[in-house]
Amino acid sequence: FLDFSKNRIVDETLDQLVALAVQQDLPAKIEELFSGEPINNTERRAASHVALRYRGDQAMLVEGEDVMPEVRSVLEQMGAFADGVRSGEIKGCTGKRFKHVVNLGIGGSDLGPRMVAEALREYSDGAIELRFVSNVDSSDVIKALESCNAETTLFIVSSKSFTTQETLANASLARNWLVDRLGEVAVGEHFVAVSAHPQRAAEFGIFEDRVFDFWDWVGGRYSLWSAVGLPVALLLGMSVTEELLEGAYEMDKHFRHAPLEENIPVILAMLGVWNSNFLDAPTHAILPYDERLKKFVNYVQQLDMESNGKTVSRDGEAITYGTGPVVWGDVGTNAQHAFFQLLHQGCHPVSCDFIAVREPHHSHAENHQLLLANFVAQTEALMKGRSEESAAAELAAMGVKGEEIARLAPHKHFAGNRPSNSIIVDKLSPANLGAMIAMYEHKIFVQGVIWNINSFDQWGVELGKTLAKAVVSDLRGGAAQSHDCSTEGLISRLRP
Ligand code: F6P
Repeated sequence: FLDFSKNRIVDETLDQLVALAVQQDLPAKIEELFSGEPINNTERRAASHVALRYRGDQAMLVEGEDVMPEVRSVLEQMGAFADGVRSGEIKGCTGKRFKHVVNLGIGGSDLGPRMVAEALREYSDGAIELRFVSNVDSSDVIKALESCNAETTLFIVSSKSFTTQETLANASLARNWLVDRLGEVAVGEHFVAVSAHPQRAAEFGIFEDRVFDFWDWVGGRYSLWSAVGLPVALLLGMSVTEELLEGAYEMDKHFRHAPLEENIPVILAMLGVWNSNFLDAPTHAILPYDERLKKFVNYVQQLDMESNGKTVSRDGEAITYGTGPVVWGDVGTNAQHAFFQLLHQGCHPVSCDFIAVREPHHSHAENHQLLLANFVAQTEALMKGRSEESAAAELAAMGVKGEEIARLAPHKHFAGNRPSNSIIVDKLSPANLGAMIAMYEHKIFVQGVIWNINSFDQWGVELGKTLAKAVVSDLRGGAAQSHDCSTEGLISRLRP
């Protein structure tokens, strides 16, 4: 359920925003997305994450070829492996059943399964304990392994490229940890990989039948629906993963077929364009009123900022208008006591998505009502604000006198008219979560179409990666590279 009535719009605004979407050829672009056209034009490939969750019986083409047989075959491979591990049929090299699963991956190979595992933890039967390691700071891996027993620990090395420095460094640490305890022989039984480059995983020593393949036409941040979701299947069972895919597929059908003016991702996207390009709100807050969705903020942040943080059009022209917003946020009610002051009275306009789950998670109905009351009240306060006169009247009613009222009233004035969307799901079920993730994916896609940018590449993360390789060689005393004097100064200070 989406209530977007707290935006600064009238009926005509919506009509004009829909007209803008039509002018940008959105219906045809949606069809290109679903028919596997190479819409990622800089990398000359499709962005066909919708094929990964397609539940129908038609072909799903990616650049002319039906990919459903291979998509289904990897899902089956995942299901068989997850069932085997969960039932204890697939064991570690000393014959013990696996208890801990450690996912080693970063960015899209981490945030999706991490967020879903946290959101749906109540669906776990306790058979598996799942840990995530992403940061190359070794304290991350050390902390994850602290309470693991090598004999009962399974590692997933998740990397689309299988070249990501952080993931490979952590995989080596984990490998050494395992070999120290169980010997080289353990690697084959205790490591699996998820990658679009299976031969690189094989070189790492992972058995061929323990590599879960995915494809170049799946973007890293859109890969949760592929074998990157394996940790979720191991923690919660394949049936939960299937429900998640099902929910995303429902949203896909809505996005593909609903008229633009009734289409949830399109409406959200166009309101985002309205708020950022027309009303100058360059940042957008995601505010879930549910602890289980804490990581949802980070997930949508990567999805949006890595997709639409661009200054060049699809054709390589410099862009003269704003594109992807800064996406940030945190869970309510905590966020209310941290940064909401700025949302209500600050000078930077912020648009917000408030998200709530109607059914209580636990049996503490009173807490839940308090949570939902805050969810509603904040959106009301942001919209209505409070005039100085009404602040003055309130102070007077409290017994505050003349000059003191005049002194305090301006501080208690809320301008209001601050836009927000309210998104409500009845229950945080796997299907509803899947639908909500797909909703944001499509919203971001639509905005990319409006701004005429390629939402599916991420060249902006490359330069730092390349320079880090040169700096690490300097830090390790290798051949000196040439740097500017500021960078040189930092390197000298950090050299061991
Ligand atoms: O940070 C850039 C990025 O390429 C993300 O898009 C991606 O999700 C992440 O790194 C991890 O990449 P990989 O799965 O290839 O290790």
